[in-house]
Amino acid sequence: MAMAKLKSSGSGYSAELDEAERASRDEIMALQTKRLAWSLGHAYDNVAHYRKAFDTAGVHPSDFKQLADLAKFPFTAKTDLRDNYPFKMFAVPREKLVRIHASSGTTGKPIVVGYTRGDIDIWADVMARSIRAAGGRSGMIIHNAYGYGLFTGGLGVHNGAEKLGCTVVPVSGGMTERQVQLINDFRPDIITVTPSYMLAILDEFKRQGLDPRKSSLKFGIFGAEPWTNAMRLEIEQAFDMDATDIYGLSEVIGPGVAQECVETKDGLHIWEDHFYPEVIGPETGAVLPDGEKGELVFTSLTKEGFPIIRYRTRDLTRLLPGTARPGMRRMEKVTGRSDDMIILRGVNVFPTQIEEALLATDWCGGHFIIELTREGRMDEMTVLAEARRESWDSGGLDSHAEKVSIFIKNTIGITARVRAVAPDTLERSLGKAKRVYDKRPKG
Ligand code: DLL
Repeated sequence: MAMAKLKSSGSGYSAELDEAERASRDEIMALQTKRLAWSLGHAYDNVAHYRKAFDTAGVHPSDFKQLADLAKFPFTAKTDLRDNYPFKMFAVPREKLVRIHASSGTTGKPIVVGYTRGDIDIWADVMARSIRAAGGRSGMIIHNAYGYGLFTGGLGVHNGAEKLGCTVVPVSGGMTERQVQLINDFRPDIITVTPSYMLAILDEFKRQGLDPRKSSLKFGIFGAEPWTNAMRLEIEQAFDMDATDIYGLSEVIGPGVAQECVETKDGLHIWEDHFYPEVIGPETGAVLPDGEKGELVFTSLTKEGFPIIRYRTRDLTRLLPGTARPGMRRMEKVTGRSDDMIILRGVNVFPTQIEEALLATDWCGGHFIIELTREGRMDEMTVLAEARRESWDSGGLDSHAEKVSIFIKNTIGITARVRAVAPDTLERSLGKAKRVYDKRPKG
């Protein structure tokens, strides 16, 4: 089988695509079948949790004969990872791991993930591939403002950028004034950062009286949080650059699970030679056909240290056929996590829908938060939207805010108060933005 020869490690990264990026759909599916069989067996043989879960469900890795058989295997949830904190999900002796990462989580224990040397190499490969798909090339300078540390963003991008042959500036998040200074002095071609922090960098450019369109930045690789195409336009116009979306999660590997191609900007190609996606009905758990929206589920195909089987990401999207990389499917931009969904008097709403409504105005540049309160027995939503400096100075924004409120009512179907607030009043995130502040009484 030709695909069996596919290198998991790409060498000599250049403008040229990897073998897997050029493969046909059939070739990718054949490779996935082979690799899934290995991954299921590896998890079952080496992780007590998977052995027990498979046994309880009455399935064995040998029941897997074709891709559709994966649906027989049990899901893995975040709670399974928490229950096995810190090291019980590892499939190799701890000594074989060269790195640990952890996702902070908002409550309770973090999720701990581990990587063998081989896993780190694969991660660098998929990240190098992602940067290249975003427009990056060997020899470019990359300003990496994703946080370094237990978060996978900083080091994940870093290793991939080095592998691609870029010069990495490992700035990490924070110290916004210095970020702008370094961009000016080092003249990077690429910036990697959360979209919300990119807006803070934009503000700082303006504060320093610098024209962001004259910066050296040509490509932005934005992810780690949901963001809209309206935000893409905002950032692209402000910096005169191409902005693409990168997706990933610690449990699956980190950044570099899926990446948008700069030539099409039509959703993110999933690197399906390493990560097998499914979309399921969040309530039913049934696998949905491609094109239908639901919860994204991932199975790792090649990871040694921390294999993950049918992991429920809680991210909502749908699978679409490949375009710029025809053998690999795309996922539509993630609209939000099922956890972020606000149910306001029976209507579901995601912060990204509010972002879209605000960016359709010319007075709000995309900094906003949502407050939920309870008045009497009714839940109330207030959107605090920061005005652009130019708009604030010209005053009289109340009627504009009211218009957004009407727009939200007409498009999303909820009643939300919208208040324009002065520039620089909302707290800036250094990484992932916190959009929703739930001030409703608990219980
Ligand atoms: O956020 C990994 C990452 C770093 C991705 C840098 C992209 C860039 P976690 O901290 O484990 O890992 O958070 C993963 O973040 O399940 C999504 O809910 C959300 N997320 C990540 N990328 C996107 C994206 C990193 N492009 C969680 N769009 C995921 C929407 C995203 N949500």
